[in-house]
Amino acid sequence: MNKLIIQGGKILKGTIKASGSKNSSLPILFSSILADGPLILNNTPHLSDISTTLRLLMDMGAEFILESDGALFVDSSKLTNLVADYDLVKTMRASILTLGPMLAKYGEAKVSLPGGCAIGSRPINLHLQALKELGATIEVKNGYIFAKAKKLVGKNIYFDQVSVTATENIIMAATLAEGTTILYNSAKEPEIYDLSTCLNKMGAKISGIGTSTLTIEGVKHLNGVQYSVCPDRIEVGTYLVAAAITKGSITVNGAKAESMKSILEKLTEAGAEITITNNSIKLDMKGKKPKAVNIDTGTYPNFPTDMQAQFTALNSIADGSCSITENIFENRFMHVPELVRMGADLTLEGNTIVCKGVKSLTGAHLIASDLRASASLVLAGLVAEGETTIDRVYHLDRGYETIEEKLKLLGAQIERVQD
Ligand code: EPZ
Repeated sequence: MNKLIIQGGKILKGTIKASGSKNSSLPILFSSILADGPLILNNTPHLSDISTTLRLLMDMGAEFILESDGALFVDSSKLTNLVADYDLVKTMRASILTLGPMLAKYGEAKVSLPGGCAIGSRPINLHLQALKELGATIEVKNGYIFAKAKKLVGKNIYFDQVSVTATENIIMAATLAEGTTILYNSAKEPEIYDLSTCLNKMGAKISGIGTSTLTIEGVKHLNGVQYSVCPDRIEVGTYLVAAAITKGSITVNGAKAESMKSILEKLTEAGAEITITNNSIKLDMKGKKPKAVNIDTGTYPNFPTDMQAQFTALNSIADGSCSITENIFENRFMHVPELVRMGADLTLEGNTIVCKGVKSLTGAHLIASDLRASASLVLAGLVAEGETTIDRVYHLDRGYETIEEKLKLLGAQIERVQD
């Protein structure tokens, strides 16, 4: 297995380019199941979750080509195997997003239960309940979901809780249902905006995009189209925190500030000078240490849970004390004990981390556990005194394209070595 070795203390300076959004690319790739022709996607990131998705679609009978210009050609219009197998689903929970499209296009699906992960039990009751309301029969046995639907019929559906992938699954299912579906209490994340925009380009009729009430008028067919995926707001946010934690100054090109307001507000509150254009974000700490900022995660447009671990690292060496409350996942604290091993003063009280900024962290041998916790450890390693080694780097490769290359471009001393 690979590990990262970081020599802390370098001030990050320079310019990098944002990658395409992982959490947009995944549902859009699965939406190819709905289309009667191929999707041609631009700006999809080269991540292990994308490779897993392509392998899953290929197992189901799809074809894909990675074009020389980086475009991804995906034809899932003639699937021959309506099964999302456990061996792949267990490595990527987002595989549950095959369920809605397969039911809508083929009237049946067999999808492995995704199971939990390091950050929580990750139930899928909202997905299954809503598909039943659209007319599907769902049986769960032997670790699999067996779903059938002669036809899906549009309905008014009220989500008891805001869920990103449940909203995405039902939007996709409703595009080919008979009649109109109205989704109340839908998630509003920018990735849902991106998926819905792509589906409408394919011929779907979705209105209310960007709000928590979505209306989907069922259509007979969806076509393959060319689409460019939006930039990854969490990847960009992570690199901006890397600059803030090292008192540096960086510019991220290809970033869309309007989808990152809550993150940029917190970075400004921490003392960063933020300059935005329509296609870039610059962060400059003017050589100052960050100030501690309170964090309270919530659904979009509130502060994203996917940035909580990164801000825990930032706050651990900030001036002052603060509280970091995680309201979305019950166990998104795997980074806390590892940061404490580096000298951070963090105490977990229920779902709140009480953080007292310390003067400095010391490098240590750490283990990555989940995607964003791993990113948090890299950030801490960048500012810690001495050497930090992070094992199980495959967690990072799920969501960060060539992370060590981008950080090296900014002046970090970081190497990936084979174990
Ligand atoms: C998506 O996960 C993202 N993944 C996550 O990003 C992100 O953290 C999360 O949304 C919240 O923004 C992808 O888009 C692929 P949820 P998702 O359903 O859809 C509960 C990353 O790091 N819930 O919005 O699985 C659930 O337990 C990943 O890139 C139910 O109870 O999250 C949680 O408490 C991590 N029943 C809350 O809702 C359900 O059926 C929100 O989860 C579904 C969810």
